[in-house]
Amino acid sequence: MRADALLVRYGYCTRREAFAWLRAGNVRNKDGSLITSPALQVEAREILVNGKEIPFPNGIYVALHKPAGYVCSHVAETGSKRIFELLPEKWERRNPCPECVGRLDKNTTGLLLLSDDGAFVHRLTSPRWHVTKVYSFKTEAPVPEEAAALFMSGELLLKGERTPCLPAQLELTDATHGHLTVKEGRYHQVRRMLAAVGAPVVQLHREAIGSLRLDTLKLAPGEWRSIDPTVFEHGEEW
Ligand code: URA
Repeated sequence: MRADALLVRYGYCTRREAFAWLRAGNVRNKDGSLITSPALQVEAREILVNGKEIPFPNGIYVALHKPAGYVCSHVAETGSKRIFELLPEKWERRNPCPECVGRLDKNTTGLLLLSDDGAFVHRLTSPRWHVTKVYSFKTEAPVPEEAAALFMSGELLLKGERTPCLPAQLELTDATHGHLTVKEGRYHQVRRMLAAVGAPVVQLHREAIGSLRLDTLKLAPGEWRSIDPTVFEHGEEW
């Protein structure tokens, strides 16, 4: 990659500013030699910018414990907080910058993945990949007993949808608490499924995506850590 394109890719400056950045001596090879030519071909792992290695030169793959009240968007209405405010500031200036791997609603908490690898994001959000997502919930009214069979039947048609939901596994802890495991990521899917059986959700938390569990990651609300993206290479069965 050209040296100026690299500075833009990793969020240090704009293409226009890159020339000045390089002339100012901010960029060096790890052997100490200066890189001043914008057109020079460079390798992110071999470069120091302001004396420091470029963070995540191979791309960003992170798990975040999303707290309630944050939106999964780069833009937010006034007064709303964005999950990107919980991550290093420079990440949003990278090009490409990290995106959410499937959104959580503003008031849903739990495991959220982010990545700047478009193919990874696409693969994990594609309904064809069938990665399981486990949610714990609390509802306002009791969940009827027949809901488990309906959700597992693959015949539940949500309002405004043309195709029924894929089979989903419901396990109740008591009348208003339980876990729902789904293999898709339709808009407000869990809330809509439970509302469809007369049990509107009042609390929703994502515990796991595939084999990645929030409790084993040991992340407090608002904390993040990088993950190994290959853990999702195999779809799982239930
Ligand atoms: N389903 C929902 O309804 N909301 C979420 O945030 C995630 C899944």
